[in-house]
Amino acid sequence: MATVTSMNAIKVDYPQVSCVPVADQQLWKAKTIALIGEPLKQVEDLIESTLSSSTNSFDAILKYVGQLSGKRLRPMLTLLSAIAIDGRSTEETIRQAAVVELVHTATLVHDDMLDQAERRRHSLTIHKKWDDTTAILCGDWLFTRAYGLANQGESTTPGRWISNAACRLCEGEILQNQAVGNWSLSEGKYIEILKGKTGNLCAVSCRLGAWTAAANQECCDALDAFGMDLGIAFQLHDDWLDYWGETETTGKPDHADLMASKPTLPMIYLFDQLPEDEQEHVREVLKWDRAPRIAAIHEYLERVNAELYIRRTAVRFAERAKTHLSALRPSLARDALATLADLSVARFA
Ligand code: IPE
Ligand code: IPE
Ligand code: MG
Ligand code: MG
Repeated sequence: MATVTSMNAIKVDYPQVSCVPVADQQLWKAKTIALIGEPLKQVEDLIESTLSSSTNSFDAILKYVGQLSGKRLRPMLTLLSAIAIDGRSTEETIRQAAVVELVHTATLVHDDMLDQAERRRHSLTIHKKWDDTTAILCGDWLFTRAYGLANQGESTTPGRWISNAACRLCEGEILQNQAVGNWSLSEGKYIEILKGKTGNLCAVSCRLGAWTAAANQECCDALDAFGMDLGIAFQLHDDWLDYWGETETTGKPDHADLMASKPTLPMIYLFDQLPEDEQEHVREVLKWDRAPRIAAIHEYLERVNAELYIRRTAVRFAERAKTHLSALRPSLARDALATLADLSVARFA
């Protein structure tokens, strides 16, 4: 672990962080498209047909939301989980894959308003393009539509699971909001927040896929645990991107967490590593204007080698995610899930 040896020299002894090379990412894409290209297209079609309202002016807003498609991580988890169990996806799998993406999209519309973010998926956010009222109602519409869709089948199970995951997600966002400016938040509490706001939806995405393929309890639980750890890894990587990512690639603002005084792992780790008097100075720096604040904080982060620590923590969760897959029999879909865990800490485009 890291040790403070003097005011300026902090020694960190971590093994090299693994990263998925771009060429492997391309290969993965090709293999995955061969595996889930067709059902993923059906999910896209279902999302598109679901995003239409009876009111013309609202229809335009939903069309805008529909055009900005993201990485589709959660539907991929649902489809691959079903295929890993039963070798195929069903109409119910397609439906639940669309549900998890709609819930995710609803949370982003609200999250961007809460974070006052201007850009999402390389475009203006809903509350910026229209206004806060539109963003609140658009998010509400998406949530409600998703629950309707989740309940279209014969079982009440998907609706109950989705509702539970969305409640946990809101609780995670509330905990995060309550932690704003709390620079003594522990790493353990922070991981609990990530479980809530990101882990649960990834977990239920996998669990639903497994359920639609009539998986036994052991496999459902294993895929749920896989999704949870992958979600934590993915969010840790997202928090890393906030400090070290390129906004041209992410399509969203950089240093948003820092400017909003959100204690994510880079700052939690920094405070953990610094002696009292230096912590006081960092608290002062956190009141500075944007450019000098970012520059000074990066100097501190570099000194404690925070970047490596964050990446390594994310990789640790991605590695743990893969261990849960041993409950499943070997298959191309299981391999694809494992690769998805690797990519969650390398962020595919
Ligand atoms: C963004 O999720 C919010 C986080 C949980 C980090 P994604 O990075 O999956 O967003 P899209 O769907 O690809 O835009
Ligand atoms: C994820 O947190 C938001 C949700 C899970 C709803 P962030 O606030 O870090 O996500 P981005 O960075 O805005 O995509
Ligand atoms: Mg946000
Ligand atoms: Mg973020």
